[in-house]
Amino acid sequence: MHDEGARHERCETALAFAGRQLRRLVEAHPDYFPMYTVNGRWKHGGDAWTNWCEGFLGGQLWLIYAHTGDPWFRARAEHYSRLIEHRKTDRTVHDLGFLFWPTWKRWYDLTGDQAANAVVIEAGRTLALRFKEKGQYLRSFVADESLFIDIMMNVGIIFYAAQQTGDADLWRIANQHCLTTRRCLVRGDGSTAHEGIFDTATGAFLRQSTHQGWRDDSSWARGLAWALYGFGTAYTFTHDARFLQTAEACARFYIEHTPPHGVPPNDWMEPDPALPYESSAAAIAASGLWDLAQLTGDPLRARFYREYALRILDTLTGPEFLAIETPGWEGILKHGTYHTQKKLGVDESVMWGDYFFVEALNKGVKARGDGQ
Ligand code: GLY
Repeated sequence: MHDEGARHERCETALAFAGRQLRRLVEAHPDYFPMYTVNGRWKHGGDAWTNWCEGFLGGQLWLIYAHTGDPWFRARAEHYSRLIEHRKTDRTVHDLGFLFWPTWKRWYDLTGDQAANAVVIEAGRTLALRFKEKGQYLRSFVADESLFIDIMMNVGIIFYAAQQTGDADLWRIANQHCLTTRRCLVRGDGSTAHEGIFDTATGAFLRQSTHQGWRDDSSWARGLAWALYGFGTAYTFTHDARFLQTAEACARFYIEHTPPHGVPPNDWMEPDPALPYESSAAAIAASGLWDLAQLTGDPLRARFYREYALRILDTLTGPEFLAIETPGWEGILKHGTYHTQKKLGVDESVMWGDYFFVEALNKGVKARGDGQ
């Protein structure tokens, strides 16, 4: 049995630490968008592979502002959101949800400012332009033939744009993308493939593949966490039971295959992985599980998801993961990994890991306040 008061204190301590780390980052490197640390430092010349992380700094600033009400964070949150506004028409990436949901959508939710909402809607419209009618999926940044599991975290912004505008075609695109991803990338045991390859001439699904996982037929932990969270979001928009079942199947796979501390390796199926942890997958799963607890109709499962999210946070707020006792470390959460094969951000802090950790902490603190 856990002492709920002590748990709450750990979350508050971690959020206060996150605020200090973010303040230092913004003051040390103004207008810089980090992606992963090298030896714990955010600023370096390392490769990005693709530019998908520019919403996570502003997003964390919005989250800390929402938690503290401190105007310093509000001003920086607006500033870092404005710095990426031009990306609302960026057709080179599949990540416009990652850019605009943590930033401009939070801005709109907190203020009701219709100009902010218009930015989110435009980003959703831009993302929908990636839809391949042959194959029925939003193509990844890599190629026309490629569908990524990660896009499940971005498709929500298209559902949102459809809902706000009444545009039925946007809704069709988002819905079909989710159905194709479910059919081609989610397996019967709830595990997921990273990528699907299609025949662009016919739209036929050809095979599963990976970039950041161990093998084409294995299960990359972060990809599965994206699916757990993303299918839950698809369900909040559609109320289509298939999406909830998929999110819950992914949650079950995660929980059954992860050690009791709640943090998976980079890929569950890799034998003897060099590193035991991929902490960003755990942070994403914790945040997604808070949502699933609200979405599932079963009170026992809801309690189990909440308990498991708290178990992950118990682990991530300890000194092995939280950088609070690591002098000179500039990130918040240690032991994240971006891309092992490319040797980018391996066993480091990663910007999305920090973002989803702060988001999960916020949800945990709010749930306690709501008496859950
Ligand atoms: N590009 C998304 C990820 O690395 O998870």
